Amino acid sequence: MWPLVLLLAGLVAGEAGIPPHEDVARVARFVVHGCDWGALATLSAQDPPMRGQPFANVFSVSDGPSGSRGSGVPYMYLTPLEVSVRDLQMNANASLTMSLAQTPYCKKQGYDPQNPLCAHVIFSGIVEKVQNGTEADFAKAALFSRHPEMESWPRGHNWFFAKLNITSIWVLDYFGGIKTVTPQEYFNAVP
Ligand SMILES: *[C@@H]1O[C@H](CO)[C@@H](O)[C@H](O)[C@H]1NC(C)=O
Ligand SMILES: *[C@@H]1O[C@H](CO)[C@@H](O)[C@H](O)[C@H]1NC(C)=O
Ligand SMILES: *[C@@H]1O[C@H](CO)[C@@H](O)[C@H](O)[C@H]1NC(C)=O
Repeated sequence: MWPLVLLLAGLVAGEAGIPPHEDVARVARFVVHGCDWGALATLSAQDPPMRGQPFANVFSVSDGPSGSRGSGVPYMYLTPLEVSVRDLQMNANASLTMSLAQTPYCKKQGYDPQNPLCAHVIFSGIVEKVQNGTEADFAKAALFSRHPEMESWPRGHNWFFAKLNITSIWVLDYFGGIKTVTPQEYFNAVP
């Protein structure tokens, strides 16, 4: 009985496949590829007293189809009608957060979302429209494969593909404080 339980536990851990915590850039890539959504904070363009204040909102995200290696680039599908997208039109600086709390991993391990072992990544950067071409094709495949209902979102809303152009990366994946990773380390990492 016990060997079977251990074997199954091993399979679950292998399936979760989180890289060792000291491979911080790989952990960041793992978190981003594992999450289907993130919290995006913008600087509000709403009327005072909100104007200029931080405003965090949920967005569906994908860095590539599930089962692929993933690109590390957080792609989004946005409409100018959306309240946070209006903020971005005034100031495209944003912060995006993704956590393994959004996957079955932390619950399975018994980690509270605020526990550093429940790895999470915080980005800062600029949200940019993805121009037509191969990158837009990739963004579409990345997003629509993981968010099938996007295909039926109202046509009149002028949806477009966007990405966070990452300038800074912070990772919490272990005790001892937050760690930083450069975009170069992040994109070079093999998740
Ligand atoms: C990002 O923020 C900086 C500093 O506030 C500002 O100068 C810049 O215009 C912003 N960039 C964009 C694309 O909005
Ligand atoms: C991008 O593609 C869309 C849909 O095919 C088209 O309406 C739009 O004009 C294109 N934009 C550019 C800049 O080529
Ligand atoms: C981010 O923006 C810089 C400067 O415009 C550009 O050179 C770079 O290719 C962009 N990175 C991504 C991942 O799109």
